[in-house]
This record gives sequence, C-alpha cells and structure tokens, in this order.
Amino acid sequence: MRSDHLTALAHARDTAVPATAVAHPNIALVKYWGKRDEHLVLPRVDSLSMTLDILPTTTRVCRDPAAGRDRVTLNGRPAAGEALRRVVAFLDLVRERTGLAHRAVVDSENTVATGAGLASSASGFAALAVAAAAAYGLDLDATALTRLARRGSGSAARSIFGGFVVWHAGPDAGTVAEADLGSHAEPVPVGDLDPALVIAVVDGGPKAVSSRVAMRRTVDTSPLYEPWAVSSKEDLTGMRAALLAGDIAAVGEIAERNALGMHATMLAARPAVRYLAPATLTVLDRVLRLRDDGIPAYATMDAGPNVKVLCRRADADLVAGAVRAAVPGGSVLIATPGPGARLLAGGGR
Ligand code: DP6
Repeated sequence: MRSDHLTALAHARDTAVPATAVAHPNIALVKYWGKRDEHLVLPRVDSLSMTLDILPTTTRVCRDPAAGRDRVTLNGRPAAGEALRRVVAFLDLVRERTGLAHRAVVDSENTVATGAGLASSASGFAALAVAAAAAYGLDLDATALTRLARRGSGSAARSIFGGFVVWHAGPDAGTVAEADLGSHAEPVPVGDLDPALVIAVVDGGPKAVSSRVAMRRTVDTSPLYEPWAVSSKEDLTGMRAALLAGDIAAVGEIAERNALGMHATMLAARPAVRYLAPATLTVLDRVLRLRDDGIPAYATMDAGPNVKVLCRRADADLVAGAVRAAVPGGSVLIATPGPGARLLAGGGR
C-alpha cells in the first residue's frame, strides 16, 4: 500500500498530474487576532473554530513545466495584486520544499464573497495547501497540512479538519523550527452538542482594511490588545470544557465575549479599525432579545460587519427568521459543522 502510494507520488512529480481539493470555511469561537511572527504566521494566541458545511472553495493546481510564471484565476477571473502575490508566495514555499521549480496553473472557485469577513481565505488556503501538496508530490499528513495552510493564511490551518478545531499558537521559547512545528491545528472533542451558525450577511462587499493589516495595527498600537490576549487563554480553557460538556449556553457566552473583546481591541487601535456597522448592532440587539425570550443564541463577528449567531440546530430556523426580519436588506445562511479539507482528484494521493 505504502510503496504504491510512494510510487504514485513519484509519478506525480514526473508527470504534472493536476490535483483538485475542496475545503470549507471555519468560524472562530475563540479568535485568532495578532501574530508574533508575520513570515511564519505564528499567532499570539491559541484559537478554536467550527468548520462549516457550506460555502466551500474548490481549487485545482496543475504544474506547468513550460510556464515562466504562475497563472491564477479566482472565480474565473485572473488574480492580480495582493491576492496573486499571496498565492505565488505560497506556491514558492511548496516549490522550496519539493525542489520542483515548475510554475503552476491555479483555478479556485469560491462560493463565499471573497474578502468580506466570511472566512474565504481560510477555505481558500486550506484547499490550495491540499491541492498544491498533491500536485507537487509533497507527502504530508493532516497535521503537517495544517502547518502548511497556516503559511497562506493563519485561519486556514483550522479548515484542514472538520468539526471543532483548535489551532495551537506553539511555543514562545525555542528555535524557529520548534515554533513552526508546535503551531498546528487539531480536532477538539465535543460532547452532546447539536449546534448551528446562522450567518447574517449584512454587507457582502470587500472590507476596507484587510484582517492582516488590521491585526498588525491592533498589536502595535492598541492598549487593549494585551489584556484581551490574556483573557483569551481563559476563554480557550472554558471553551474546551463547555464543548466537552455540550453546554451551548457556555459555548455561546464565551464565544460572544471573546469576539466583542477582539473588536474592542481594534476600536482602541490607532487609528481605530471598526468593522461593526449599524446593521451589525441591529443583529446584536436582536440576539439579545432572543436570549430574553429563552432562546440560547450568541453572536460572533470577524473582520467584517457580518454576524454569525451560534444556536441549537433545532432553533436555527427560528433564529434565522428573527435575524432576517431585523435586517431586511441582508441575506441569511444556516451552517452546521462540516468536513475537513480533502483531495477530490489527482496528484497521486
Ligand atoms: C478575525 O486568517 O484572515 O477571522 O493570517 O493574516 O491571513 P492572516 O489572517 P486571517 O485572520 C482571521 C481573523 C479572524 C479570526 C479568526 O478566524 O480566528
């Protein structure tokens, strides 16, 4: 079996077999915000997320031995600027590891609005990591794939696995290699929890400030960043316990306070980064009223104005209806825990 696999990988290296992979976005319940190493994408804090069953990204990578540069399309359009630069830098990393200098053709289809704080970079780089590793004949297990995906976009590390996933920040002391090795994602055990995330898309447009720039500015200038990073440790411990106990109220309370705290750090940055829009606050108010009515519903927001409401799967339609009525101009999606990234075809794996 193993030698068949290695033969297939060796074959893949010689013959430019295209590889296609699919990955789903994830939404963090304990957020990743702030890096301690920009180049290696080492985070300041551990984070924990739920991989979704909707909005996948499908990415095809094919080496092109004759090409002088990488060609990348995103949803059928040639990528340019920062998006292209990040994909090429990621492929360079894979080329460096394999010693294969070939350029590649990359075609990526996203069902989620790119750059709107709906985790498109997470599904995007997770799918690219799996497809590029296969296309270049790089034999990595799932844990090693989380480290590779991390280099494209931190949150992508978590989309390699399905369900609930923790991404370890890794050790602060020690060598660069030790830090890189320690900063990987892994699945988290969950008790009897049947959760849904109701996603209120109040604005699907691209964000004004990228999360990368915003988190750098927050770490560098926000007096609230360090206290949040400290409290986030406690949130992670509490979140693990709440998930294991299947306690949706505790999971939701921790997720909501962690997200609001993260946004507080940004609001205190200089200049301030404010992703929350009036419609965001309207949804937050509605979520509070749902709780007053006895429905366990809790909000989390990322680098954008959209709100994700954590609730029981059994309450998801009710919560979606309430949110839809609160923001008539927006759209509402319901997600439940989804699968990890996987290779659909090619690359000999
Ligand atoms: C607010 O993973 O997009 O969604 O590593 O710079 O690419 P880079 O950042 P990215 O940041 C995600 C931040 C967040 C919180 C989270 O997903 O944990």
